[in-house]
Amino acid sequence: MSSQKVAIITGASQGIGEGLVKAYRDRGYNVVAVSRSIKQSPDAGVHAVAGDIANAETAERAVREAVDRYGRIDTLVNNAGVFLAKPFVDFTQEDFDHNFGVNISGFFHITQRAAKVMLEQGAGHIVSITTSLVNQPIAGVPAALASLTKGGLNSVTQELAIEFAKTGVRVNAVSPGIIKTPMHAPETHAAMSALHPVGRMGEIADIVNAVIYLENASFVTGEILHVDGGQNAGRW
Ligand SMILES: NC(=O)c1ccc[n+]([C@@H]2O[C@H](COP(=O)([O-])OP(=O)(O)OC[C@H]3O[C@@H](n4cnc5c(N)ncnc54)[C@H](OP(=O)(O)O)[C@@H]3O)[C@@H](O)[C@H]2O)c1
Repeated sequence: MSSQKVAIITGASQGIGEGLVKAYRDRGYNVVAVSRSIKQSPDAGVHAVAGDIANAETAERAVREAVDRYGRIDTLVNNAGVFLAKPFVDFTQEDFDHNFGVNISGFFHITQRAAKVMLEQGAGHIVSITTSLVNQPIAGVPAALASLTKGGLNSVTQELAIEFAKTGVRVNAVSPGIIKTPMHAPETHAAMSALHPVGRMGEIADIVNAVIYLENASFVTGEILHVDGGQNAGRW
C-alpha cells in the first residue's frame, strides 16, 4: 500500500469543499475531488471526478479511481450538500427528491463504497458536514428537509461509529452554523450574522480546522462537533 494518505472530498469545487482540498493537500494527502462541475487540476496530487453525488455511479467512480490512482482511502469527507429554507407545506416533490438525492443518497453510495475499502485496510475516517439547525431550529428559518436529511446524517454518524468502533474506522460529523461561502450572497451576511449568539457568521477556515481536528483525534468517534458560534448551546 502506498505510504501517502488519500482523502476523497465531495462538493470540492467551491466553498468549504475547496478549502478542505487545500488543507488536505497542505498535509501531504492525495485528494480525489468530486463535484458536478469540477475540472482537472494541474496538481498531480488532486484527481477530479465530475458527477452528481446523488448517483451511485459517481460514487463508484470516485472510490475506484482513488484506489486505482493512489492505492488507498484514508478519509472521506461528505461535504456536498444542499439547503433549502421554505415553509413545510410549500416543499415540492422536486425539492424533496433533490434534498434526499444530494444529502442522503450522496452520503450513502460513496460512504458504503469507501467504508468497504477502509474496513479492508483496517483504518479510515469518515466525516460528514451537517448543520446546527437540526438540533436548534431557528424561528423564521423553516428548514424541514434539512432536518430530515442532515438529521439523518447526524444519526448515522453515531450508528456507524459504533458499528465500526473496533475496526479502526472512525466516523464523525461537523455541524456548522452559517458560513461565508458562495451559498450565501454577501447582501445577506448582516442578517445571517444575527442568527448566531456570537453575532457573526463563520468562516470556511472554521469548518476546515474542525475537520482537521477530527482527522487527528484518534480517540474521537461518533462526535457531532458543533462549529456554529453558539447556536447549538440554546436560545439567544
Ligand atoms: N455555508 C453554510 O452556511 C453551511 C451551513 C451548514 C452546513 N453547510 C454544509 O456544508 C457543506 C458545504 O457547503 P458550502 O456552503 O461550501 O456549499 P456551496 O458553496 O454551495 O458548495 C457546494 C458544493 O457541493 C457541490 N455539489 C452540489 N450539488 C452536488 C451534487 N449533486 N453532486 C456533487 N456535488 C455537488 C458543488 O459543486 P458543483 O456545483 O460543481 O456540483 C459545490 O462544490 C454542505 O453540505 C452544506 O449543507 C453549509
